[in-house]
Amino acid sequence: MLHPKNTEVYFTLNNGVRMPAIGLGTANVVEQIPQTKQAVKAAIKSGYRHIDTAWAYQCEDRVGEALKELFEEGVVKREDIFVTTKVWPTNWDRVDESISRSLENLGLDHVDLVLQHWPLCFNRLEDPDGIDGVRRNPYHEDGSPHYNEKGDYLETFKTLEKLYLAKDPRFRAIGVSNYPVEYLERLLKECQVVPAINQVECHPHLPQMELRDFCTKHNIRLEAYSPLGATNAPLIDNELVKKIAGKYACSTQNVLIAYHMRQGVVSVPRSVNPKHIASNVQFVALSKEDIDTLNKFGVENTKRIVDEPFAAAIPGFRENK
Ligand SMILES: NC(=O)c1ccc[n+]([C@@H]2O[C@H](COP(=O)([O-])OP(=O)(O)OC[C@H]3O[C@@H](n4cnc5c(N)ncnc54)[C@H](OP(=O)(O)O)[C@@H]3O)[C@@H](O)[C@H]2O)c1
Repeated sequence: MLHPKNTEVYFTLNNGVRMPAIGLGTANVVEQIPQTKQAVKAAIKSGYRHIDTAWAYQCEDRVGEALKELFEEGVVKREDIFVTTKVWPTNWDRVDESISRSLENLGLDHVDLVLQHWPLCFNRLEDPDGIDGVRRNPYHEDGSPHYNEKGDYLETFKTLEKLYLAKDPRFRAIGVSNYPVEYLERLLKECQVVPAINQVECHPHLPQMELRDFCTKHNIRLEAYSPLGATNAPLIDNELVKKIAGKYACSTQNVLIAYHMRQGVVSVPRSVNPKHIASNVQFVALSKEDIDTLNKFGVENTKRIVDEPFAAAIPGFRENK
């Protein structure tokens, strides 16, 4: 039976916008940021039509350079690709400026999706080595996060909503990231627009069953970050994933991506290696039985891999460490 490539699969968001089910993640480690441009070019040439980026990744300009060259070379047109950016918690009350800054970095007149990066409000600490002169992750000397105590995390989404309802031409959909169920419940009570996406850490060690059910019920599409287990892709050596890959004669990476694709979850594996980028597009028709086995494994062996001390204020974020 012929299967599509992962890059040919699209999901429809709650406002009708079509989103490619796989995108290239660009949260590259600092020393790999310069490789972002070639990674984006390799991805688009391998069929990817979706790039996941953010102001905080410090690579939007490199994504922009890659896209400009791809447009000039006639490889793709702007309307063929889906670009996501995000508003970082230091910009929680500067949503408008943050979107404009990202567009300037990217050299685009619009993105497809803007996400609130974290439901947190940080104080802006001046730092010449920071991003736009501001420290990305601000901490007090005692190591506690530098939260803006007067800030309300929901303000960021409320501002996004206001711009969206006013038909701001700079984006086509809005969403959130790192929202647990109880924050989504509050959002749905206080806002009119249902987020199109909730982007969270998700993989066979963190299947996000409760959040997934809640999002499905409310027509919020789940998007998986760190699908391979973050830097160095530790999940590709997971014994259960290896066993399942053996059944399908495919790589463990392909199983980890199919795990999302087959459950209607968007995923954004990151790589700067053109061979990895190209190999991650192989579709695997993972059975419901194998998906259930992976979900059961995650429920019994829950482990959050991405540990951000600044996320301490978000319920459930520093458990399962
Ligand atoms: N919203 C949020 O708060 C948030 C948080 C974290 C991440 N994200 C997004 O999600 C994206 C993905 O998550 P992530 O960056 O944490 O990690 P990830 O995609 O789970 O894993 C990245 C690692 O996998 C390796 N890799 C990729 N394909 C491979 C292959 N075929 N074979 C072997 N190794 C492979 C990469 O190395 P090579 O480069 O050598 O291939 C890299 O070390 C991010 O880039 C970002 O866009 C969002």
